Order: sequence, then structure tokens, then C-alpha cells
Amino acid sequence: MEKKQIDWDNLGFAYIRTERRFVANYKDGAWDAGGMTDDANVVINECAGVLQYSQSCFEGLKAYTTEDGRIVTFRPDLNGQRMEDSCRRLEMPVYPKEKFVDAVTETVKANAAYVPPYGSGASLYIRPVMFASGPVIGVKPADEYQFRIFATPVGPYFKGGIKPLTIRISDFDRAAPNGTGHIKAGLNYAMSLHAIVDAHKQGFDENMYLDAASHTKVEETGGANFIFVTKDQKVVTPKSDSILPSITRRSLMHVAKEYLGLETQEREVFKEELADFAECGLCGTAAVISPVGKIVDHGTEICLPSGMADMGPVTKKLYDTLTGIQMGRIKAPEGWIQEIR
Ligand code: PLP
Ligand code: COI
Repeated sequence: MEKKQIDWDNLGFAYIRTERRFVANYKDGAWDAGGMTDDANVVINECAGVLQYSQSCFEGLKAYTTEDGRIVTFRPDLNGQRMEDSCRRLEMPVYPKEKFVDAVTETVKANAAYVPPYGSGASLYIRPVMFASGPVIGVKPADEYQFRIFATPVGPYFKGGIKPLTIRISDFDRAAPNGTGHIKAGLNYAMSLHAIVDAHKQGFDENMYLDAASHTKVEETGGANFIFVTKDQKVVTPKSDSILPSITRRSLMHVAKEYLGLETQEREVFKEELADFAECGLCGTAAVISPVGKIVDHGTEICLPSGMADMGPVTKKLYDTLTGIQMGRIKAPEGWIQEIR
């Protein structure tokens, strides 16, 4: 298989159309067999549920080329499970996680020429998405849906790669208690767009959202969970029912404990504690671990001791171990790496 002629080293995080995608349709109470297609466009009725009431959810995972030249994905079963959870909460038909993983495999295989080479720092981002394609005008779930997986080669999510970010505490809320913050619903992202555009206008890279009920506890950003490192090297991550259960964060907490021998805590993190942490990072599939150097709380700057030049030392160890596992340099826990053959 010949790789595409792409400037892998300078890719940003943007859509590049690749050749093949997986599509399955749900009609009359059942999913069809699904299959691969070249058609990147979707034609739906003007009254489709996704267009009227935003009935949609999605996932994000990556395929990597390992040091020894294999193509692998990272814990795709957990994305399949999370999409099932999203579908249940949004009254959408579940696409079974086993079939989800098969469809991811097929999509990556069909686009193997777009999987960036080892060492480029880029990866193939895989985007499974489901939306209501059938018409609805009363507020209710649609009868027809499409499940689609496409892939696009990407570089770092934040411009500047792994340079520490400056974020602000947002006055906007991302998710309500008992709402949809814990699932990957498109609507969570639609309502974060104004906040991120405003943050960028004010010179910030991202928003730190607080819990909507009290505005005292740290939740997450628009597209990543937080990890913090205490001055005595404990790795701490916020516990909340209204944040997305990040697969990267769950993996990092395992890496911190089992590979690096660090104490880990998943617990409520109060805004008041921010000034006491030694390091802070954003973690997610797209973000990997992006270090945070400064948090601005309505004009008050909280400067992390790790500074604005480099990742903090514990964040760096976490980053190196996680990416080492993903690229096959470090032995993975059982079941984490799925080889695409
Ligand atoms: N939080 C939000 C809101 C996200 O969109 C994402 C991205 O998927 C994450 C966290 C990180 O999750 P994961 O590590 O599973 O990609
Ligand atoms: C991911 O990390 O896969 C996401 O969905 C987050 C988004 C900011 C791209």
C-alpha cells in the first residue's frame, strides 16, 4: 500500500476528505448490513430530526502507525460502549459496540494510505457519527437514522503543538446537572461554540467550565478532560456526573498508577484549589495531553509552576508513556491496542 503524498509533519486539526467511509441506515426498526462507500455527502429531508432538534451523537478515536509499521487503534471498544450510552440517552437506536469496532476496522483498512507514518506526530482521526435522518415536526425521536464513520489525517489539536496553553474560567455553562454532559451529543458542542469563539477573541486557547449548579467546581473544557498534578506528585482528575468520561483520562489514570507508581485521585476539584497545583493538562483523543500554563479567573492569573515554556515533568512522563503505548514502544495493557490487519 502506497501512502498518500501529504505533508504529514505540518498537518493541523482539520477535515481532509479521504476515499472511503462506512454507512449504515436504520429504518423500520432495524439497521441494514451497512457497507463502505466513496460518497462523502449526505442527502436528507429538510425536516430530518438532526436538522430540527439536533438529535445526533458522535465519537472520536485515532489510528496510529507503530514503530514496527503496524496500524493500530486505541481502545475502540470503549468508544463503541460510549456511543451506545449516548444513543440510549438521546432515544436513538443503539449501534452495537461489536459492530461499531468492526466498522472502525473496515474504515481504517480502506483508508490505510492516509494513516500517517510513524514519527510524523500525526494520526488518522476516526469520526463515527449518528444522526436522525427521518422527518419529525413534533418534538419526538425520529424513526430513521444514519450511522457513518469517516476518517481524516490530523496533526495537533492546538496550534503550536505541545506549548502550554492559556485558558480562562468561563461564565458560560457547558452541561447541566442531570443533563447531557456525560454523553457525546452534538448539542453539547453547539452550545459551546459561542463560548469558544468569545474565548479566542479575548486571547484564550480554551474555556475551563465549572459545575453549572454552584460554579465552584472544575468540570472540563469544550473538548477535553482535566488532569492536575499536586506539588507532592499526586495525579488528580475531576469527578462529576456532567463531564464526558474521557477514554484518554481513564487510560492516563491507569498509566499514572500502574506504570509510573503515582498516587491517583478522581474527586471533586474546587476552583479554590487551582493555585495549589503544580501542573495542569487537557486530555482527550484530539488533545492527547496538552499542558496548561496559565488559568485566568476574571482577570486574576493563576500561573502554574510548570510555566509557559514546557510541559511539567509529570505531565511529560504521562504523555511519553501514553503515546509510547499507542505507538507500540511500550507494552500495552491487555486489550488496549487493536491491530488492523
Ligand atoms: N471531554 C469532551 C467534552 C470531549 O469532547 C472529549 C473528546 O472526545 C473528551 C473529553 C476526551 O475524551 P476521549 O479521551 O475519550 O477522547
Ligand atoms: C476528540 O478528542 O475526539 C473530540 O471529540 C474532541 C473534539 C474537540 C475534536
